[in-house]
Amino acid sequence: MSTDLQYREDGELRHFLTVEGLKRDTLTRILDTAETFISFGEREIKKVPLLRGKTVVNLFFESSTRTRTTFEIAAKRLSADVINLNPNRLATSKGETVLDTVRNLEAMHTDLFVVRDAHSGAAYLIAQHVPPHVSIINAGDGRHAHPTQAMLDMFTIRQHRQDFENLKVAIVGDILHSRVARSQIHALNILGVPEVRVVAPRTLLPTEVERLGVQPFSDMRRGLENVDVVIMLRLQLERMQGSLISSQQEYFNLYGLTPDKLAYASPRVMVMHPGPINRGLEIASEVADGPHSLILSQVTNGIAVRMSIMALLMGGQAARRED
Ligand code: CP
Repeated sequence: MSTDLQYREDGELRHFLTVEGLKRDTLTRILDTAETFISFGEREIKKVPLLRGKTVVNLFFESSTRTRTTFEIAAKRLSADVINLNPNRLATSKGETVLDTVRNLEAMHTDLFVVRDAHSGAAYLIAQHVPPHVSIINAGDGRHAHPTQAMLDMFTIRQHRQDFENLKVAIVGDILHSRVARSQIHALNILGVPEVRVVAPRTLLPTEVERLGVQPFSDMRRGLENVDVVIMLRLQLERMQGSLISSQQEYFNLYGLTPDKLAYASPRVMVMHPGPINRGLEIASEVADGPHSLILSQVTNGIAVRMSIMALLMGGQAARRED
């Protein structure tokens, strides 16, 4: 999937569709800008007027708790007008195409669409058809990408470890079906993490996964040895065709994150998970709720990171309308 749609001619971000192909400077700018927003959540007045007068439409054709809600909070903190559309009530259920739905919402002067869809490439397709003053953010498309999740994960790592260039990171679980893993791998590589491991049964690893810039492991204990960060992934049973694991109990025994397996990692290890978590399937409750877990910090950080991305996309938009 081409990434050239993401930048304007002046080098500014136009859409945020995938981490792949983004410049390191862009990722660092997103993280630095998010840093300035992080304290807003603790203030009595949490709003800034950066997106006052802008209209943001959340177009989620797939279920979501964290992403949809944090986008809504982020847009409201930036003072945008936010519309959340219920896919079951949209005219797509009467046969209208998604592109026609978007064109109609555009006619209502929408500035920014946040799109989640079960089909890989959905956000990219919409981005190809909107006028220059409209931006698209991919909030997760099929197995392809979940770039804002990857950026909030990078932000969470950076909060605890200043330097990406000395880290060992293991991503564990259903890599094959995970848009989050793909986006995280691109982000970690772009930010200069020297050792990115993926840990999974062979049936849950893409073929030639090494070409993504990772080291594969099938033995979880070896894969976790001395790592600084463990990112656990959900088994995406709804995307699996056929039987890719022998049983959920055996999967937990081999790949579930338990205190004894975590003991192989660095003593200061950070445990992360994009959610939703399945306790007792990919992670034990003692670890999910334990002292190394940053799972809820990731959710909190999602607001500042999404504020940052929306602010960067919308910066200078007024000038472009006048061109
Ligand atoms: N991490 C994530 O995408 O969660 P939701 O599906 O709840 O948005």
